[in-house]
Amino acid sequence: MIIAVDGPAASGKGTIARALARHYGLPHLDTGLLYRAVGISVMRAGGDPANPAHATAECGFSEALLVDPALKSEAAGRAASLVSSHPEVRAALIRRQQDFADQPGGAVLDGRDIGTVIAPHAHAKLFVTASAEVRAERRHRELAGMGLDTRLTAVLQDIRARDERDSSRSAAPLRQADDADLLDTSQMDIETAVQRAIALVEARIRTA
Ligand code: DC
Repeated sequence: MIIAVDGPAASGKGTIARALARHYGLPHLDTGLLYRAVGISVMRAGGDPANPAHATAECGFSEALLVDPALKSEAAGRAASLVSSHPEVRAALIRRQQDFADQPGGAVLDGRDIGTVIAPHAHAKLFVTASAEVRAERRHRELAGMGLDTRLTAVLQDIRARDERDSSRSAAPLRQADDADLLDTSQMDIETAVQRAIALVEARIRTA
């Protein structure tokens, strides 16, 4: 069984994807980490994430980088959003995502284009979203928990900019697949969102 979980930054899709993977005993891939790895490699090499040649040159990063805590930083997220707009970068990363999705036994993948491009044949697709304000509050709390002192308005501005860039790019923009179930977590705590996600996946499996 393949489960695709897509949605914007801080929507809760990562937590939901991990919970689904645990629930069904499936391996999980956070595909945003791949773009973050490229983004941070470009920055460390002194390059410009907006430059397609600089970004493409860093697509052969080592697996070890995927567990680097620096990938979680806001700077890495911004760089990831920039490199992910280059079609060459998306093409270079597609194979490892599809191999992960198609492994025997199935998998859970979360990202922006799993249900539309990486695994259009997924058995269940969730599009997880929440209002920009709620997502900014969540990210702000998360950053504060990491000891980072950021202003809520700055976080909200960053989320809006990232939404705009991720949704308006021509290569695999963030969008809900026609056959995806929408899960708006604005008014839900995480336990409720996870229970709702499991119920949506169960309903898809029953009717498959
Ligand atoms: O989910 P995240 O915040 O880790 O993603 C970081 C950036 O990577 C996001 O702004 C867009 C890009 N991304 C993408 O284009 N496609 C994916 N499947 C996952 C992430």
